[in-house]
Amino acid sequence: MLHSAVLNVMIKAAHRAGRSLKRDLGEVEHLQVSVKGPRNFVTAADHRAEAVVREELAKARPDYGFLGEEGGAHPGTDKTHRWIVDPLDGTTNFLHGIPHFAVAIALERNGTVVAGLVYNPANDEMFVAERGKGAFLNDKRIRVAARGRLADAIVACGLPHYGRGDLALARHEIAAAQRAFAGLRRYGAATLDLAWIAAGRLDAFWERDLSPWDLAAGSLLVREAGGFVSDIDGGDAIMQKGNVVAGNETMHRELLRLLQEAGKTAGKEAAAVSTAP
Ligand code: IPD
Ligand code: CA
Ligand code: CA
Repeated sequence: MLHSAVLNVMIKAAHRAGRSLKRDLGEVEHLQVSVKGPRNFVTAADHRAEAVVREELAKARPDYGFLGEEGGAHPGTDKTHRWIVDPLDGTTNFLHGIPHFAVAIALERNGTVVAGLVYNPANDEMFVAERGKGAFLNDKRIRVAARGRLADAIVACGLPHYGRGDLALARHEIAAAQRAFAGLRRYGAATLDLAWIAAGRLDAFWERDLSPWDLAAGSLLVREAGGFVSDIDGGDAIMQKGNVVAGNETMHRELLRLLQEAGKTAGKEAAAVSTAP
């Protein structure tokens, strides 16, 4: 299939960063058995990958702004375009030598994501989408799954770290999802969770406390694959609020309803605890 010039630039950047990460993954596997462990090395790998992406994108579009997880925001002279980049999504997986991680690159024009890619270098899966042009995995058109029965559905989620996020709320949400769906998964790379919804592998996904680089590329992929994406209140402020619900039309609607009910139950429980004598 023919990609636009700008998507080709993004693909080239992701391939270059992917090669760097794949080389580094080999080293990480060795470091598992060392006393120091691979943590510092992984931090360096992450920064290297972002530098590669930034350099490659800037070569082709020197004026665009750049927001990267590692290096933060670099405003460009072109105020209408901005790259949003997670050079290594799924850091914990990478750190453990688990081949489920990705490079994610999105392009925003006037605040709207117009192109996005999520690339897993470990298995060479490249998910791409451009606004209005559909979503693709390694050049083959992808679509969200058509499943309509919750009891048949597999749903992915994130889990808050202990001491961060609302653990009580998460417990209610997870219990509600366990009751409703066939299976619950926690894969550890939000960009791939969204890409896998676009590819019809997963039926739905939700997570809180995410950042724009976790969400920008993947939410375009889901929409271009015919799916629905919103924040947990059902609105469009995904990147502002940092939370997301995604799936086909039915799964998205049902998961949203279920999460909102879980939120009310958690709220009542918290209120009862705070007023208890
Ligand atoms: C993380 C992953 C993970 C999600 C975390 C993210 P990182 O990104 O996407 O699945 O649960 O909240 O921060 O740190 O590996 O780039
Ligand atoms: Ca991330
Ligand atoms: Ca990251």
